[in-house]
Amino acid sequence: MVLVTGATGAIGGAIARTLAEAGANVAVASRTLHLSETLVRTLERDFPGSRCLPIELDVTKPPSVRNMAEKLLKRYHRIDIVVNAAGVMHMDQVLDAPVENFTETLATNVGGPFLVVSALVEEMIQRRSGLILNLAGVAGLKGAPFLAAYCASKAALVSLTQSWAEELDDCGVSVYALCPDLVDSPMVRGLLNVDGVPLLAPQAVAERVLVLATGAERPENGAILTLPGPGTLPAPA
Ligand SMILES: NC(=O)c1ccc[n+]([C@@H]2O[C@H](COP(=O)([O-])OP(=O)(O)OC[C@H]3O[C@@H](n4cnc5c(N)ncnc54)[C@H](OP(=O)(O)O)[C@@H]3O)[C@@H](O)[C@H]2O)c1
Repeated sequence: MVLVTGATGAIGGAIARTLAEAGANVAVASRTLHLSETLVRTLERDFPGSRCLPIELDVTKPPSVRNMAEKLLKRYHRIDIVVNAAGVMHMDQVLDAPVENFTETLATNVGGPFLVVSALVEEMIQRRSGLILNLAGVAGLKGAPFLAAYCASKAALVSLTQSWAEELDDCGVSVYALCPDLVDSPMVRGLLNVDGVPLLAPQAVAERVLVLATGAERPENGAILTLPGPGTLPAPA
């Protein structure tokens, strides 16, 4: 079974739907329970073979993460794949960036995966099998103006990915950082002027997740997997 955090968002939603369509049981988690419940009803209607579970989860809060892990393991007794897609983004100038935005961004984008993985990885280690996918983005690989906190959080998530991969490789657990270019989503459209900018569809990310989930693609543990946007020229050879 698969846990998707941030499953009510654009990318998490596409991933939850794609994996449910492929027959996976999917736990759908976000802070907004009624949206998770609506998504679960849709998934179970469209893909009756998939047993889904809505979970209210704030990835920044240890009790909420513990509660999520208990519910999930009670229902499914195992966790095969964790997709860390919950995330926030603020745009601030360095001159007057509110510390609250910095704190929330770090707590959600890197503290969240830390808590979620800490709560669930023991079960994976016991079965010597598991896949952890961290939604980082190109922001984890290079800085960007007005996005210092966001880029720092994603760079830290890439670093967590690499450390966990080294630590868990002998335990049968694979960990990857997914680094798509800009993806069409409320997060991006709410903060950036993307008029005329070619954006990846959330479904493109979901399809990459599917090939990793099925084992059709098996990169080296800890790999940083980029997904170039439609407008991105490939790097010169
Ligand atoms: N869009 C892009 O261009 C892009 C590119 C690369 C990587 N990413 C990353 O991909 C992930 C998904 O992005 P998106 O574009 O799909 O964003 P989105 O549509 O804004 O979705 C964000 C999701 O995160 C959830 N969330 C936020 N804070 C949370 C918290 N404290 N606890 C639990 N859930 C929380 C939101 O639900 P609630 O508010 O209901 O909790 C929502 O489901 C993010 O990590 C983002 O940084 C995005």
